[in-house]
Amino acid sequence: MRILVINGPNINMLGIREKDVYGNGSYVELLAFIEKVCAENDIDVHLFQSNHEGAIVDVIQQAYAKFDGIVINPAAYTHTSIAILDALKAVAIPTVEVHLSNVAKREAFRQVSYAGMAAVKTFMGLGFEGYKEALLFLKQYVVGGN
Ligand code: DQA
Repeated sequence: MRILVINGPNINMLGIREKDVYGNGSYVELLAFIEKVCAENDIDVHLFQSNHEGAIVDVIQQAYAKFDGIVINPAAYTHTSIAILDALKAVAIPTVEVHLSNVAKREAFRQVSYAGMAAVKTFMGLGFEGYKEALLFLKQYVVGGN
């Protein structure tokens, strides 16, 4: 199965930004982690990161009929982007939302998730492990079986 993993703004700054919130692991280490999980689980993965809302909308649109699932951490756009929500609804590809931190326990402005309204499941507060949970959940959700 083909899964598109999308990371939003500032996720490329992992390992530098707010380590107390997001941990010490770098973005390059996150990509290696995701690639390992996918290799072990027979998932064909495509990795994408952008700091630009429109670029994220574009890659979601381009995924139409090409990917079986999407894992997305929209980062700050989680809480603001109706455009990303609409793109996810437009392509109707099963989507799992991931957040490294536990946004439910953070500021009031992080309590709305637009992308989450199009997601079949959300994993938060698990660090890198949340991406693994999301990929395995999505595989089970789409392919089923064992
Ligand atoms: C985040 C949480 C968001 O609120 C924040 O804007 C991010 C990262 C997370 O992974 O915990 O940039 O999506």
